[in-house]
Amino acid sequence: MIKAEGLTKKYGPLTAVDSVSFKVEPGEVLGFLGPNGAGKTTTMRMFAGFVPPSSGHAEICGFRVDTQPTEAKARLGYLPEGAPAYGEMTPWEFLDFVAAARGYRGAEKRERVGNAIDRLNLTKTRDQRIETLSKGYKRRVGLAQAILHDPPVLILDEPTDGLDPNQKHEVRELIAAMSANKIIVISTHILEEVDAVCNRAIIISSGKIVADETPDHLINRSRYHNAVTVKFARAENLESAAGDLRRLPNVDHVEVDESCRSVTAFPQGDAMILTAIGDLAGQKSWAIEQLHLESGRLDEVFRSITAAEAA
Ligand SMILES: Nc1ncnc2c1ncn2[C@@H]1O[C@H](COP(=O)(O)OP(=O)(O)O)[C@@H](O)[C@H]1O
Ligand SMILES: [Mg+2]
Repeated sequence: MIKAEGLTKKYGPLTAVDSVSFKVEPGEVLGFLGPNGAGKTTTMRMFAGFVPPSSGHAEICGFRVDTQPTEAKARLGYLPEGAPAYGEMTPWEFLDFVAAARGYRGAEKRERVGNAIDRLNLTKTRDQRIETLSKGYKRRVGLAQAILHDPPVLILDEPTDGLDPNQKHEVRELIAAMSANKIIVISTHILEEVDAVCNRAIIISSGKIVADETPDHLINRSRYHNAVTVKFARAENLESAAGDLRRLPNVDHVEVDESCRSVTAFPQGDAMILTAIGDLAGQKSWAIEQLHLESGRLDEVFRSITAAEAA
């Protein structure tokens, strides 16, 4: 288990992390979400022992990062923001250096480095200087460094930031593959990432936790949850269609989006309105391009929670 208790970091007058407390158990993949400047990196650095807290403390598998740093760090794999590495080294040299720092020697060191290189598909580039590698490969070197000692806890700071969509997908698959018996914390400001890889989400805003729930619950908080969007083939008659939708039972209100040629109907409470809207579209012979039941929009939940906090 890992634990933050009243974790606080002040930089002069700024409170970057403000009394943050949470626990994470094995099997949990925690998405640590928040806008830029929210305090994600600072929180992770305190777990990694890179930054001492102003007050409170962090614990990794029962060991306090401040008073038992060696034990705590031995159980942690940490990918710092931007995955820094020594550019003039090759992946093999860099991982060999990290393995030595972790205390491995001889055959075991070679095996650890070899395994990490296999795991992250770095075999073809193992002898190429890191500064000449693509962003995706540099990130893989950073991940290889983090898993080298097979730690029970992984803390990854924006592991997919700056990668192209294929590389993002690849890193997410890797995280999913490793998640079975580990504790994984990833920070991100990308909403779909939480939905894709995490089974728990903590939203942090201005250094404070403002939500802690499953991605599904978070989506359910969206005002779009169970709303139905009708996208019309042509722009004419949007307003009259909106009027028809507004008159349906169980429809609370409708919103017209002229630029998307669409009308979104919002249900009253938990009512399901999709079937009624499908029937109406048939009766009126609407030329429809798309009829879409919204599950909820995570980005909108995120904005509403963090904006409320900022206000
Ligand atoms: N070493 C530092 N000195 C002063 N302020 C800092 C330092 N590191 C971070 N901050 C500030 O702390 C806040 C939180 O930053 P950070 O933890 O990097 O946020 P995030 O990772 O969520 O984008 C920001 O306002 C940032 O400018
Ligand atoms: Mg950050």
